Amino acid sequence: MESNFDKAKIGLLPLYLMPTSKSSLINLSQLSKKNIELLFSESLGLKSKNTLNLGQQNANVGKTAALLFFEPSTRTRFSFEAACVRAGYHPMILDGAHGTSLEKGESILDTVLNIEAMRPSFFIIRADHALDLNQLANQISVPLINAGWGSHGHPTQALLDGLTLFEKWETLQNKKILFIGDIRHSRVVASHFELAKILGYQIGICAPAEFLPKQNIENNSFQYFKTLNQGLSWADAVMALRVQKERHLADSASEILNYSQHYGLNLSNIKQLHEKAWILHPGPINYGIEMESEILLDPRSLILKQVENGVFLREALIRNISKE
Ligand code: CP
Repeated sequence: MESNFDKAKIGLLPLYLMPTSKSSLINLSQLSKKNIELLFSESLGLKSKNTLNLGQQNANVGKTAALLFFEPSTRTRFSFEAACVRAGYHPMILDGAHGTSLEKGESILDTVLNIEAMRPSFFIIRADHALDLNQLANQISVPLINAGWGSHGHPTQALLDGLTLFEKWETLQNKKILFIGDIRHSRVVASHFELAKILGYQIGICAPAEFLPKQNIENNSFQYFKTLNQGLSWADAVMALRVQKERHLADSASEILNYSQHYGLNLSNIKQLHEKAWILHPGPINYGIEMESEILLDPRSLILKQVENGVFLREALIRNISKE
């Protein structure tokens, strides 16, 4: 059976965001609902066939993609790598500074400009907030995909989360998604605030005061729940967030202990969640803090589906970008 995506002729999708003609993906705010739902349909089409488009693969023989990860990653790096191979691109990977000329003092900008001189078809970059991805995208001549940028955003994570729920619900319009925990430091939530506006879902948050958003979020753009049980009873889906210890100024065992008591998902409080609601986590999971390990086995858990769908979402994105 043909997927909706086949009918959509994805090559015609104006996916892009940047003021330049090239198709960089730095944030989600300039994408339309139609573009995103077509991207979802394409992703599910690729997943349902689970075969390679050898025509496009052959067309890309000899072409490369530059994957530069200046911060650690497992899911995003491996799924982009798999997506590149599936679309016919050879991934050139920089995985941290070790063994590169960054250790000799070369700047990230110089690193990117030198790799650009080797003519990759596009860049996929993960970096902390010190690197300005918007500025960088304007300094290079090929598309740049944000693979997680400080606390600014993680657009492909929000898209794959959206895809995973779209696969279950067929639309996210008016659905209620509860985010629990470290909202302030989460680039995943930052991208979900953008995606929710486009796809029309409601955001609820439940977090301790020190993890609540400081700025940049309109007061009326989310519902705040004082207790986890209230939030769980409200939600159609719940996403536990990783406590981003590396982005906190200070960490303390007492903060973590307090956190898991009030905000960690466990076999007792998860009973408040509707039997048809879904459980997500972007990973990696701190078991015993954001959730007990048994939650992964709950029939409502989509956590490994998110990872699976990430490959197809990123493959669809790469195929769109490379068609322009
Ligand atoms: N969700 C996510 O970005 O995971 P990684 O850090 O492992 O890529």
